[in-house]
Amino acid sequence: PARFNVLGIESSFDDSAVGILDSHGNIYAHVECSQLLHHLPTGGVNPVIASGLHKQNLPPLLDQCFDRSGLTPKDIHVVAYTKGPGLGVSLLHGANLAVNFFRENLSPPRLLIGIHHMLAHALVPRISNRIAFPYLTLLASGGHCLLCIVQELGISEVIRLGSTLDTAPGNVLDHGARLLQLSRYPEFSECSGGQAIERISLRGTLRHPVLNILPRDRNANFSFSGLGSSLEYKLNSIAKQRIVSYQDKADLALWFQTSLIRHITTKTQNGIRFCRIHFPQINSLVVSGGVAQNLAFQKAVTELCRQHNYTAVYPALELCTDNAVMIAWAGVEYANAGIGIESPEDEVHFIPR
Ligand code: KG4
Ligand code: ZN
Repeated sequence: PARFNVLGIESSFDDSAVGILDSHGNIYAHVECSQLLHHLPTGGVNPVIASGLHKQNLPPLLDQCFDRSGLTPKDIHVVAYTKGPGLGVSLLHGANLAVNFFRENLSPPRLLIGIHHMLAHALVPRISNRIAFPYLTLLASGGHCLLCIVQELGISEVIRLGSTLDTAPGNVLDHGARLLQLSRYPEFSECSGGQAIERISLRGTLRHPVLNILPRDRNANFSFSGLGSSLEYKLNSIAKQRIVSYQDKADLALWFQTSLIRHITTKTQNGIRFCRIHFPQINSLVVSGGVAQNLAFQKAVTELCRQHNYTAVYPALELCTDNAVMIAWAGVEYANAGIGIESPEDEVHFIPR
């Protein structure tokens, strides 16, 4: 098929990102603006601040992306933006930018595609490695934990095997980092909670038995909230006896991270066992989301896959977290599958001009 160029825009939560690629997966440029430092003081994402920053940062990011790409807006054939799930007041600004750009610059044949954010995470490794459908995917991020089968796009692209019953692994890691007050140490002042836990864990020793959460369940649903409470309990019982030291925190962080990983691999194993019977053709597990950047997590998942003759596939680290390349790439896949609309009035009329 003829080559086409796709503009991707992502603004689902706290990062603004814009990227341009062609339908063969060649990346012309991608730029992003993280809001991490704006939200660290409160330890969570403030929707009003997030929304204001997207509004302010997206238009200059778009210009910057074109400057770096060497292309002009007239060279774009498809506009792909994150339609959901996400924070409404954040999504709005990406959608707005996408629709206005589409109206002003694209001439027929043209396509505007609202992308499902989680499916974009699941598809992005295919940019460099055309893993065949169907495959299994595990998404572990700040807001989600999902185990799905991804099938050929078009009819029913996703079969959900399991998801979190309460909170998400990234969220519970961020919570753990706050309980351990890791942001007080200059070495972690610019880290997300998950990164801080990963780094301090390297100095820890496993002194507490690893938690087994829902070990007898045969399903692939996840639960993380008990882990946060257990950490709080352990921390308080140390604090009653003595001042909690850096070493105590390193040991607790390692225990906390190991328990979280154990839970995710146990539940993923249930999913793999289900697929052995019902989808025997599957032999790849695509892993993504911010938590998938964690090297201990990758090691455990790779080992699980090895035991089951699966190949574990990780996107490049910068494509694991929220980014615009994955949105643009999903745009390529959707367009190739014939999904998309030719006029924004067909679908996106709810977006104010
Ligand atoms: O996918 P992501 O960038 O987007 C959201 O869901 O917002 O994931 C962000 C989450 C945060 O909770 C962060 O603490 C976690 O991913 N994270 C990590 C690591 N890096 C980021 N968790 C564990 N280990 C890491 N190295
Ligand atoms: Zn995401």
